[in-house]
Amino acid sequence: MSPSLVAIVMAAGKGTRMKSDLPKVLHEVAGEPLLGHVLLTLRQLETDAIYVIVGHGAEQVRAFLPENVTPVEQLEQLGTGHAVDQVTPFLDQYTGDVLILSGDVPLLTAETLRGMKQEHEAERAVLTMLSTTLNEPTGYGRIVRDETGRVTGVVEQKDATPAQKAITECNLGTYLASWPHLRDTLAKLTPNNAQGEYYLTDAIAHLVHGGHGVVSHCTSDALEGEGVNTRAQLAKLQGIYQQRTAEFWMAAGVTIVNPHSTIIGPKVSLGVDTILEPGTILLGETKVGERCVIGAYSQLRDVTCDDDVHILHSYLSQATVGRGSHVGPYAHLRQGAQLGKKVRLGNFVEVKKSVLKDGAKAAHLAYLGDAEVGCNVNIGCGVITVNYDGKKKSPTVIRDNAFVGSNSNLIAPVTIGEAGFVAAGSTITQDVPAGALAIGRGRQVTKEGWVAQREENALASSP
Ligand code: UD1
Ligand code: CA
Repeated sequence: MSPSLVAIVMAAGKGTRMKSDLPKVLHEVAGEPLLGHVLLTLRQLETDAIYVIVGHGAEQVRAFLPENVTPVEQLEQLGTGHAVDQVTPFLDQYTGDVLILSGDVPLLTAETLRGMKQEHEAERAVLTMLSTTLNEPTGYGRIVRDETGRVTGVVEQKDATPAQKAITECNLGTYLASWPHLRDTLAKLTPNNAQGEYYLTDAIAHLVHGGHGVVSHCTSDALEGEGVNTRAQLAKLQGIYQQRTAEFWMAAGVTIVNPHSTIIGPKVSLGVDTILEPGTILLGETKVGERCVIGAYSQLRDVTCDDDVHILHSYLSQATVGRGSHVGPYAHLRQGAQLGKKVRLGNFVEVKKSVLKDGAKAAHLAYLGDAEVGCNVNIGCGVITVNYDGKKKSPTVIRDNAFVGSNSNLIAPVTIGEAGFVAAGSTITQDVPAGALAIGRGRQVTKEGWVAQREENALASSP
C-alpha cells in the first residue's frame, strides 16, 4: 500500500486587511479564487482526502468547494493550531501524513510540494515545513535553530526578540507532518503569546522536544509561499501569476504579444502556434486550439475554440467556436452559442443559445437567440430573432442555404425553410416554405411632385 496523504487547507481567517465583504480566499487571481488555485495544485498530487477549514464567510466558501472536498467549520478563529485541530474528529484512525496549506497562497506549485515530500521522506522527518530566506522577513515566523543547525522551533514576528527578528529564514506556512505525532502536540498548545492564539508553529518546538525530527525545505522562490493579505498583494501576485503563466504557454508554443496585458486562467488550455494579442483575457475552462488568433481586447470565459479560429475584440462566454470560424470585432457570444466550421460573425452580432452550422454568416448588427441556423445561411445586416414576447422564449429555425435579408424581424416561433428567401425589411410571422420568397413589409407609396406642392401650399397660406 502506498503511503497515504491527507490535505488540510486553512481558510477560516477573516482577512481584515482586504476590507471586503467577500471572504479573502474567494478573491480572484486570473478569474479563479485564491482557494481554487490551492485546490487545483492539490489535484496534481495524490491525496486521499482534502479538508478545508472554513469560518469567516463559511457559507460562501462552502458553496465554492467541489464535491471531493470536505468543509470543516472552525466556529471561532483561535489560531492556526486550533484550525488544524478541527480536523481531529475526522482523522481518528488515520496514521498517514497530512499536508497543511493556507487557502490564500495562489502561486504554490505541486512541484515544490513534491520536493518537500521527498525531503521529508529522505530525512525521515516527523514534520517538514516550507521555508525561504528573505532580506525583508518582517511579518513572517522565523525558523530558530540550535548551534548545530537543527530546527528547534518557529517564533512569530510579534513574539520575537530583537535577535530572533534578525533571523532571515522564514516559515512559509506550508507543512507536511505525520498526523499521529502532530495530533498529540495540538492538544498541548496554549495561547500564551502576543496574539493570544493557538499557534500551529508551536507544535514544532513540542515535536523537537519530544525527540522528533523537524526539518525545513527551503525554496529560493519566496513568491510561491506568499499569501494575500491586502488588495495590493492580490494585484502583485496577479502580475506574477500572469508572467509565470505567459512563460509557461510561450514555452509550449503560444505567441503572447504582450504578457503584461494578457490574463490566462489556471484551467485554460492553448494549442501551438496560437497568437494572443494584447488585452486578451482567457478565463474558466477555456480551450483554444492550434493556429488561432485571439485578440485584441477579447474576453473568453468557458469557451471552446477549435483550430484556426480568429476572434477579434469580442466577448464570449459559455460558447463553442468551430474550426476556421471568424468572430468580431465587437461580437458577443453568450451562453449556449455554438458555431460550426467556417462561420463568420461580424461587428455587433449577439448570439445566445443558438446553433450556427457550417458556413453560416451574420456579418453585421444582428441578434440570434434560441435559433437554429443551417449551413451557409446568410443573415443580413440588422436581422433580429424576436424570441421573447415578454413572458416566454420561442425558437427560430432557419434551414440550410436560406437568405434572410437585411433588417428583418423573425417573430418566433417561426421556421424559414431550406433555401427560403426573406426580403429585406420584412417582419416574418408565418413559416416560410423551402425555396419560397417571403416579403412582409408595407408597400411603398410614391407621390410625384409632393415636395414642390408642399412649398406652394405653405406660400398660399402665409399672410
Ligand atoms: C502564519 C504562521 C507564520 C508564517 C506565516 C506564513 C502561525 C502561528 N504563523 O502566520 O509562522 O510565517 O503563516 O504566511 O501559524 N487561519 C484559520 N483559522 C485561524 C487562524 C488562521 O483558518 O484561526 C487561516 C487563515 O485564514 C490563513 C492561514 O490560516 O489562511 C494563516 O493564518 P494567518 O493568520 O494569516 O497566519 P500568519 O499570521 O500569516
Ligand atoms: Ca498570513
